[in-house]
Amino acid sequence: TAGGDGTGRLRNPAATGGASGSEDLPRFPRGFRFGAATAAYQVEGAHDADGRAPSIWDTYCRTPGKVAGGATGDTACDHYHRYREDIALLSGLGVDDYRFSLAWPRIRPAGDGPVNEAGLDFYDRLVDTLLDAGITPCVTLYHWDLPQALEDRGGWRVRETAELLAEYAAVAAKRLGDRVGRWITLNEPFCSSFLGYARGRHAPGAREGQGALAAAHHLLVGHGLTVQALRAGGAREVGITLNPDLLLPESDTEADHAAVRRARTLHNDLWLDPLFAGRYPEHERETWGELIEETPYRRDGDLALIGQPLDFLGVNYYRPVTVRAVPHAEPDPAARTAVDIRAAELWREDVRRTTMGWPVVPEALAELLTGLNRAYPALPPLYLTENGSAEDDAVAPDGAVHDTDRVAYLRDHLRVLAATVAAGVDVRGYFLWSLLDNFEWAFGYDRRFGIVRVDYDTLERTPKDSYHWYRSLIADHRARH
Ligand code: NOJ
Repeated sequence: TAGGDGTGRLRNPAATGGASGSEDLPRFPRGFRFGAATAAYQVEGAHDADGRAPSIWDTYCRTPGKVAGGATGDTACDHYHRYREDIALLSGLGVDDYRFSLAWPRIRPAGDGPVNEAGLDFYDRLVDTLLDAGITPCVTLYHWDLPQALEDRGGWRVRETAELLAEYAAVAAKRLGDRVGRWITLNEPFCSSFLGYARGRHAPGAREGQGALAAAHHLLVGHGLTVQALRAGGAREVGITLNPDLLLPESDTEADHAAVRRARTLHNDLWLDPLFAGRYPEHERETWGELIEETPYRRDGDLALIGQPLDFLGVNYYRPVTVRAVPHAEPDPAARTAVDIRAAELWREDVRRTTMGWPVVPEALAELLTGLNRAYPALPPLYLTENGSAEDDAVAPDGAVHDTDRVAYLRDHLRVLAATVAAGVDVRGYFLWSLLDNFEWAFGYDRRFGIVRVDYDTLERTPKDSYHWYRSLIADHRARH
């Protein structure tokens, strides 16, 4: 390893990637926590090791034409075997927290039935190694890798999957709960439901309107049941991670405002309203029309189940979205939900974009968090559970990766976050996405989000300038408090 080796010695300690000194570093209050994040399918590899069964992503990756370059998570960063090296990198960074996810198909490979002890053993080792390094584990239970066996029985379209999520959570809490205090039930359920079941851009690749709406509801029910299971298992802090969007109309026309209302219903209110306001979204009929006329999947008592008090809300933020009203591109009514999403997103032209095509607008983060705070009086404390950028990194002749654009992205977003905290929004911590370059879903390995470069031929890790910059920020924070 070229960089952080856990001893605090770094090859390039002076690199701050553009920041000229510590006075340029964003400042956070005492007790604010810094972390880095990954997710199981994106980094672990070892897809058939120790009893792991396929997930919907293994299947989706093997379906021709779905993932760029025909990539799979079979090897990914081989974190399953190299986790000690990766924890040494975290240690060199000086983070308080590490957010990672558990793979359901390692722990209960068929979704129900026997628990796989060998799968749990891996997370046992991971958690112990983190704790030995003084890093607090923050565990996401569901980051999109549903056991394929459950998809074969209907996946998130059926309520049974929600019940099984909570059973799996109970198994995980029983094994790890003595050492893991902070749990996240779901990561970005918008993606699991609408990208997976309506737009077909994520596993399982379905294009259904009703199926996606049922999936969304069952994910929320699964969240509620999982909160109960975790609390019964003694969990100290329980939350959920969403990706609410800051949605701006392209113009002041009524048509564009209506498009924003629909996009907001889909991206934000469908999730936030049941979780934090005890209601289904106000504009759901305007948004989904006939698709929401029949909701056999909603049962009495579900809102209370979904809306149980949480200790925190995780927010993933990358970019704002500009919305323009467009006619439906496809006549198929079942695909209407899918079409609405695609058609509504329009990226701003006037700012720099990352290699995801995402516009870099740091101030939008402040607007998003402040808006959430205002809209939901019962909102719990926040964590930024993901933020970062995919850039065209290159290895320089000196062997380093001078990712100045990523450093600028991180610095500008952290400055805005610091100002938002100073203005009174209760944000407790920040998790950078991502520790490592990794499998970026439908984009395969073409998009690099890491502050550590992964060479996919040799699996060698090289900390980028952004790693050194983040390390300086954390060190500066410690020195001042
Ligand atoms: C959100 C997801 O949680 C994560 O898996 C993904 O890699 C990043 N955003 C970047 O797209």
